[in-house]
Amino acid sequence: MTRVILVTGGMGFIGSNLVRRILETRDDATVVNLDALTYAGNAENLADLEENDRHVFVKGDICDREAVDLLLDSNGVTHVMHLAAESHVDRSILGAEAFVRTNVMGTQVLLDACRSAGIERFLHCSTDEVYGDLGEAGGLFLEDTPLAPNSPYSASKAASDMLVRAAHHTHGMDVVTTRCSNNYGPYQFPEKLIPLMIANALEGAALPIYGDGKNIRDWLYVVDHADALLCVLENGAAGRVYNIGGNCEQENLAIVRAILDAVGASDDLIEFVEDRLGHDRRYAIDASRIREELGWEPGFTFEEALPATVEWYVSNREWWERVRSGEYRDYYERQYGTR
Ligand code: NAD
Ligand code: TYD
Repeated sequence: MTRVILVTGGMGFIGSNLVRRILETRDDATVVNLDALTYAGNAENLADLEENDRHVFVKGDICDREAVDLLLDSNGVTHVMHLAAESHVDRSILGAEAFVRTNVMGTQVLLDACRSAGIERFLHCSTDEVYGDLGEAGGLFLEDTPLAPNSPYSASKAASDMLVRAAHHTHGMDVVTTRCSNNYGPYQFPEKLIPLMIANALEGAALPIYGDGKNIRDWLYVVDHADALLCVLENGAAGRVYNIGGNCEQENLAIVRAILDAVGASDDLIEFVEDRLGHDRRYAIDASRIREELGWEPGFTFEEALPATVEWYVSNREWWERVRSGEYRDYYERQYGTR
């Protein structure tokens, strides 16, 4: 049996790593990649797959029901892995509208289209941020921890989780939901903590740390996340939620120091700046369900994958310089415009 997997947001950070991972590890699968190429989508991320006949890229918006219907039908899509989203907390503080449109409306449009098309399974990629803030009190997020999102980003993701839940409960759709902790690795847009700090350190620019730098996130290498998503798609129970995490809590300041060390730059570049509004103090995932029920475990440690990530940004300087200059925006028209 061959599978046709629609990956939404496949030109973003996690999506592009996932597409590459599917093609590397699943011989039976073809990928249809639907991405609107917002500022966060970069067709250069998968430039090496342009001639691969198991990868079909379609520039389009998940909110466009007609386009989604056509794409599902004409490509014979069997499975959906839904990653397209507005994903940056700082941007959601500046303006929440795009987050509600894509993350909430877009998810419902996809669910409706997939139900009409009789898709076999819909995987919804969510985030641990829907659980809110663990604060200083300790504890870990479990799948039944009440949702208590604090930013417009996490609120819009929590809303989408509830729509996916309702599609299962009301319409009997086969859905699975994942909630992963913070990712890092190649092709992450340099507005997020790790790639921003690496790029700034390489340029000798200041590294802006919000507040006291003691906020804690639980970090996972992006390839491990991609493998976990595939594991849940293939083995998860319908209607069930799975946390994904690397059991790797780190203070922001410790990460920034490790980056400076790996780059060989001075701690003097650190600059403490005004805190993010509503800044959650601590996230930490209990991933025992996916480990015990589905047998997934991370394959990479932070100690090996952080230096490898720094090395990727050192070796691929042109990639993030083109993002920073805005040149990456012209790539799609140049490569695909005439096709
Ligand atoms: P990203 O911002 O790098 O990529 C998002 C992609 O979605 C981009 O390619 C963008 O062009 C596309 N997109 C946005 N709006 C669209 C629309 N309306 N129609 C079609 N495509 C659209 O995000 P990411 O970091 O790769 O995150 C991917 C998913 O994983 C998101 O759903 C996010 O909530 C979730 N997630 C991210 C992390 C993390 O640490 N980055 C952790 C857990 C979960
Ligand atoms: P980020 O990468 O934006 O991910 P999220 O907010 O979704 O967890 O930020 C990770 C942590 O790093 C978060 O505590 C905010 C902090 N941070 C800074 O201190 N400085 C920065 O410039 C950025 C972008 C983030």
